[in-house]
Amino acid sequence: MKTSIALIGFMGTGKTVVGQVLAERLGKEFVELDTLIARKAGKTIPEIFQQDGEVAFRELEIEAAREIAGKKNVVIAGGGGIVLNKINIDRLGRECLIVYLTASPEVILKRTSTGRNDRPLLSTADRDTTVRELLEFRRPFYERAADITIDTSALNIGAVVGQIIETMKEEESD
Ligand code: S3P
Repeated sequence: MKTSIALIGFMGTGKTVVGQVLAERLGKEFVELDTLIARKAGKTIPEIFQQDGEVAFRELEIEAAREIAGKKNVVIAGGGGIVLNKINIDRLGRECLIVYLTASPEVILKRTSTGRNDRPLLSTADRDTTVRELLEFRRPFYERAADITIDTSALNIGAVVGQIIETMKEEESD
């Protein structure tokens, strides 16, 4: 049986905060892939994008996902673009149940406009168009990768965590 969970989904769908609470509820270790990447690179995610470019970031992301993919009993929050390289999902999928968090473009725009300002891909003049286009492009990648899908648009963190646990139980008893 798979003992780890990987959360995937677009920026602003709550992967990090949901992952922290889910890990606590399940008594598993929480790992945020972006934190691992930044630690290994010795710089922040925006610095990696700015100084080395997106391709360099994706290579670091593949490396970090590879390192963590085999771990048992962890909840992993991936960055929003982790699905772009199939190898990441193939590796994570061996030990992890893949949980896809979705939200409407409107909710994503709202959630990503407050708080953290460290998302290089959203530092564009027209954030609305950027979010909609990126979402459209990425949707099939997320859908293909997902074992479980939860729409978080109208849910708070506790409710998302509750739904994940419920769905996992249902899947186990099938
Ligand atoms: C990215 C999402 C970010 C981070 C990087 C690239 C993406 O993570 O990995 O800025 O390509 O969607 P979050 O989804 O946690 O914001």
